[in-house]
Amino acid sequence: MAWGLGRTVAYEHPELRCTRVDVLADPSAFTQLAGELLADHDDDEVALRPGGRWIARIVSRPLPPPAAFPVRADATYLLTGGLGGLGLEAARWLVQAGARHLVLVGRSGVGSDAQIAAIAGLAEAGAQVVVERADIAEPAELARVLESMHLHLPPLAGIVHAAGVLHDGLVVDQDRERLRSVFAPKVRGAWNLHQATRDLPLEFFVLYSSASSLFGSPGQANYAAANAFVDALAVQRRAAGLPALAIHWGAFADVGLAAARADRGARLAERGMASLDPASSGPLLGRLLAAGELQLGVAAFDPARWLEYHPQIARSGLFARLREQIAETEPNPDLQAALTTATPLERARLCEQFLRDQVAQVLRLSPTQIDHDAPLKHHGVDSLMAIELKNRVHARLGVRLPVVSFLQGTTLRQLGRELGERWTEERLVEAMRDRGDTDEAADEWEVTRL
Ligand SMILES: NC(=O)c1ccc[n+]([C@@H]2O[C@H](COP(=O)([O-])OP(=O)(O)OC[C@H]3O[C@@H](n4cnc5c(N)ncnc54)[C@H](OP(=O)(O)O)[C@@H]3O)[C@@H](O)[C@H]2O)c1
Repeated sequence: MAWGLGRTVAYEHPELRCTRVDVLADPSAFTQLAGELLADHDDDEVALRPGGRWIARIVSRPLPPPAAFPVRADATYLLTGGLGGLGLEAARWLVQAGARHLVLVGRSGVGSDAQIAAIAGLAEAGAQVVVERADIAEPAELARVLESMHLHLPPLAGIVHAAGVLHDGLVVDQDRERLRSVFAPKVRGAWNLHQATRDLPLEFFVLYSSASSLFGSPGQANYAAANAFVDALAVQRRAAGLPALAIHWGAFADVGLAAARADRGARLAERGMASLDPASSGPLLGRLLAAGELQLGVAAFDPARWLEYHPQIARSGLFARLREQIAETEPNPDLQAALTTATPLERARLCEQFLRDQVAQVLRLSPTQIDHDAPLKHHGVDSLMAIELKNRVHARLGVRLPVVSFLQGTTLRQLGRELGERWTEERLVEAMRDRGDTDEAADEWEVTRL
């Protein structure tokens, strides 16, 4: 938990140069620790071990490829926070994958029309859905739910722990109530679930964590700390031979915690954390389970923008690899030069080849496997990949293609033409500005094309 808190302190109090050091309880480690704290370097997360010094780095990588995860019709799946935005999405995915018995747990029970409609949809698809009103932070309430499941339902085979609440505040404003309310579902709830089910033969135990414990999150020290607890629990369970997956979800549009404040999505997007489509969370969960992942973040994250917006952490060692990756994706001068001298036809072809390489990298295919005349979605491009492709095109060519361009049945050939045209228009706008045309004239020209 201290690491989630520390990652947030780094934003709110850069003057403290908050360094997180993991030391063994061994007196000899203290000399090493002192050296670490006095050293002048950017490594802000270090584990000191007799065998060496380990540093933490966040690395960006593609999602594992889509794969089916076996879900059983003769078992029960328990979803805490199961009536929440992402809980219901996980329930939908489970039922689509073949689950027939679900238990959805929340403190308030079914209230909204959306919840009623969602449960009706699950039942229509053939699932038995039991709603339990219980506070999973209370061991006795959880025990009651498990006992009732044991008596009336097939054996428990999997858990998705998606219960959570927000109670934001700066580090200096954290108080007992802020910590208690946020820790209740995440810390006490996750621990209770772990303790109560550790001897059951579960196939999965999923903990919904958040990007806040991965990147740190100003104004959410309590939430980042609570999520760091569930991350650590996943690691500890796996080390003990138990199933575990912790997902640092990025922001989602329109549901639950993220939607509680109207401007939240827009503010985060401006800082480099765009919103994911909630409907993608269920299939993504299946994909991560199938790949046997333990702990990873899934976010529409633009590290360049994030670091630009948060200069106080821009030198943090934690982000060092992301900085290198940003440098690798800086605008491509060779391609820019080739586009400048090319005819419109050649430009479209160059753009098409460039897009093919990007799509191949995102899909982890060879470029020769991409059919230029097939819709990109037939190759498996989904909304999350479309966001990544949009970011790649913008980082390398400075052109913002809309996300839908990658999704609407568009082929590479069409997209190559569109990119070529937009690139040309961007250059025209630049030239108008360089020539001293008024910004308004250039902007007007730009806006009419959007
Ligand atoms: N939405 C996002 O953008 C986002 C991003 C990153 C991570 N996450 C994580 O994803 C999970 C689901 O988020 P969401 O957006 O779906 O939120 P949500 O719609 O608010 O759902 C959370 C649910 O948790 C339940 N809950 C809270 N405390 C509980 C307790 N002590 N016992 C039982 N149930 C409890 C709430 O129901 P009651 O109030 O009725 O108990 C609520 O339905 C959370 O763990 C969150 O941290 C969400």
